This record gives sequence, C-alpha cells and structure tokens, in this order.
Amino acid sequence: MDNRPIGVFDSGLGGLTAVRELKKVLPNENIIYFGDTGRVPYGGRSTKTILQYAKEDIAFLLSKDVKCVMAACGTVSSTLPASVAQALPVPFIGVVEATAKAAAKATRSGIIGIIGTAATVRSKSYEQQLKALLPNCTTVARACPMFVPLVENGYLGKGNPITTAIAQEYLQPLKEAGVDTLIMGCTHYPLIADIIGEVMGDSVRLIDPGKETAHAAQQILQQKDLLARNNGKADYFVSDSVDSFRTIANLFLGEYAGGDVTQIDIDRYQLTISNP
Ligand code: DGL
Repeated sequence: MDNRPIGVFDSGLGGLTAVRELKKVLPNENIIYFGDTGRVPYGGRSTKTILQYAKEDIAFLLSKDVKCVMAACGTVSSTLPASVAQALPVPFIGVVEATAKAAAKATRSGIIGIIGTAATVRSKSYEQQLKALLPNCTTVARACPMFVPLVENGYLGKGNPITTAIAQEYLQPLKEAGVDTLIMGCTHYPLIADIIGEVMGDSVRLIDPGKETAHAAQQILQQKDLLARNNGKADYFVSDSVDSFRTIANLFLGEYAGGDVTQIDIDRYQLTISNP
C-alpha cells in the first residue's frame, strides 16, 4: 500500500480525460494534476522544447511526493525518451502503450487511424507499438493541430459548427482509407469525441487514451503494491489563470469535479536525475 498521490500532467485540459477515468477506476486514490495552461499547446513545438517542458512538469509533480507520474499527454508520451522515464525515482506511465494495445484489440479490418498533434504524428510512436502488436496492420495518421485550441477555448459541444467543420476537413482522408478504429492520440480529443464520432460514423471505434491509460495505471499500481486507501481528493495546479481552467474543468468533469486549483511558476522546477 502507498497512500501518496498519483501525479498526472498534461499541457492543459486534455489530461482531465485521464483524471475522470482514474476517479472512476481508482476512487481511493488522491491525485495531483498539473495542466501547463500557460504554455499549451505543446504539439507544434520542437522536440527540445517539449522535453524541457515535460521535465519541468515532472519535476513539479515529484516535488509533491507523488508515487508515480502519468503523462496524460500523447505529445509528451511520444517524445520523452525511455532513458529519462526509466531514470525517474517513481514509475512513469505514458499513454501510447495502453492506447495502441486497445486499438489492436478493437480493430477487425486491421486498418487503424491515428490522429494526434504534429509532434505525436512525427514521432510515429503509435505506429511502432501497433506494428509490434499487429505486424500486418495498416495505419493512417493525421495531425489535427486546431483541435487543441478549440478544446482549450471550450468549443466542445456536440454539433458545434466550427469544430465540426474542422473535424470534417481533418478526418476525410481517414474515412477514405476505410479505418475501422481511430486512435484519438491526444488526450484533448476525447473532449470532442461526440463530434469526431459523428464525422467518422457509428461503425468506427474510437480509442480514448486517458481511459485506456487509467486502466493500465490501475494494473501497474496493483502489481507494484502501490494502491492507496484515501478519500479520492484531487488538487489541480496550472501555469495560467485558475478561472478559465476551473470553468472548463467543471464542465467537463461533471460529477467528478471539485478540488482546489492553484497557479504556479512551472519554470522554477528543474528535474535532476542521474544518467538520463
Ligand atoms: N493533450 C496533449 C496530447 O495528448 C497535448 C496537446 C498539445 O499541447 O498540443 O498530445
């Protein structure tokens, strides 16, 4: 047993899709969430900058004495080298592995679509995992850079005309390729899953990275005997104004909302690890 909190981070709001699932599957765990709302989006930035931001985010969570670090961010999970993840003093859980596993299980035709940020698509992280699991699968990937700002600004509702028009444009090549399974490879995208689902059609299975990774985290914590018996409290930290985060977080988390939101200076935190 380990009653320390689980640390979760993302560039912004997207990681809340993992928090919502964690609260469902692990109601006795306390959570420390960091959303880097002052520097979102990460997905269009260079590998060097994404790594610098990710290391600061991890350093902040470690300063809160978390028992594991979940990168609820497809971009960071696709960019952080395994050597850095392995050098951390606590287990690191990214979203790519569990999400690819779920997609490999869900597909019938073996034609799998991947949408994500430019950095995620550039890394080919999902393709690598999928090819290892299903060597004969066909993958079609597309970066959808406008989805993250739309989500961060609350353009979420089913039928939202602006988000729907952009989704139609982005998703057309995946529809034409005949994918039967679509990895929403960025944790922001499940916040517009209704719109993505409507554009893709009912027969396409959507894979939610936050959800899959929350289930994987449960298994990892169980195997390592790190589960807690707490009251399931969540504390939120952001690098920009707390107000807009609170409004959208409440809207999205619904019955799972609640918890203090605090603004911090994220660039004060530096990761010191040996032999990264
Ligand atoms: N939610 C993140 C991801 O899963 C980051 C999006 C971004 O900051 O560009 O990729």
